[in-house]
Amino acid sequence: MIPTKTHKLGLIGYPLSHTFSPSYFAKKFEELGMPDCEYLAYSIETIDLVLGIFDKGVNGLNVTIPYKEQVLPFLDELSEEAFQINAVNTIKIENDGRRVGYNTDAYGFEVSLLNFLEGAKIEKALVLGTGGAAKAIKYVLKKMGIEITEVSRKPPFLTYAEMNQKVMDQHQLIINTTPLGMYPNEEVCPDIPYTMLTAKHFLYDLVYNPEKTLFLKKGELSGSKIKNGHDMLILQAEKSWEIWNQK
Ligand SMILES: NC(=O)c1ccc[n+]([C@@H]2O[C@H](COP(=O)([O-])OP(=O)(O)OC[C@H]3O[C@@H](n4cnc5c(N)ncnc54)[C@H](OP(=O)(O)O)[C@@H]3O)[C@@H](O)[C@H]2O)c1
Repeated sequence: MIPTKTHKLGLIGYPLSHTFSPSYFAKKFEELGMPDCEYLAYSIETIDLVLGIFDKGVNGLNVTIPYKEQVLPFLDELSEEAFQINAVNTIKIENDGRRVGYNTDAYGFEVSLLNFLEGAKIEKALVLGTGGAAKAIKYVLKKMGIEITEVSRKPPFLTYAEMNQKVMDQHQLIINTTPLGMYPNEEVCPDIPYTMLTAKHFLYDLVYNPEKTLFLKKGELSGSKIKNGHDMLILQAEKSWEIWNQK
């Protein structure tokens, strides 16, 4: 008889090269002594192929680029956060077959940001980039009562060319949600006026590979405090694991 896995988990996205989660969970199952668990990478070219993965009897999935929003019509319920953010990165299949969507990126960002700020009171933040990742970030900042200015390559948002001394002085926290600087394109960074940064600024980069992006290196040179996306990545993965194991 072919042994069945009691915990069938996985990740959907496209393309799925150099992805973090499968090796993270494989190590976790080994450490916990859970050989009956599996976590597979499902690189699917179109979102409708997720139905075939549900048919395999999976217990839970993570969702990454480009499906965090596209997967919504395939779910039965959303957590309050996933509903507000309108994006899902974790799915739990309940015993009765209901597919419930969650967003653990928000949790990962919130906890890591609070640790980073160490109690510093932030009134205004600049969020660089207006893509999928920015949605969870904006949700958390609003929840924390932090006023947001979105920065983009194009109006109606503030553009990079419009970032002047006043803007830089008014915003103490700057969050990079663009993929700029990510491996293997480590020589690029968002086009902000780095010379206007001070020791009062906090720079948070969602990118975690390399550990110190050019954005963070330039911030550090100006005396700003810096943080990469590594803790957020671990925290969101652990929160997904917790959700899958909730009775
Ligand atoms: N640490 C974590 O746990 C975690 C979680 C989620 C995502 N991430 C990381 O966050 C990054 C963004 O993810 P995403 O899904 O939001 O990506 P995305 O949708 O591809 O891009 C985000 C935004 O970045 C801006 N952008 C893209 N290319 C640019 C360029 N060449 N120059 C300037 N701006 C550019 C765009 O905003 P405008 O068009 O408005 O300029 C775009 O909407 C990725 O590196 C991802 O790995 C990390």
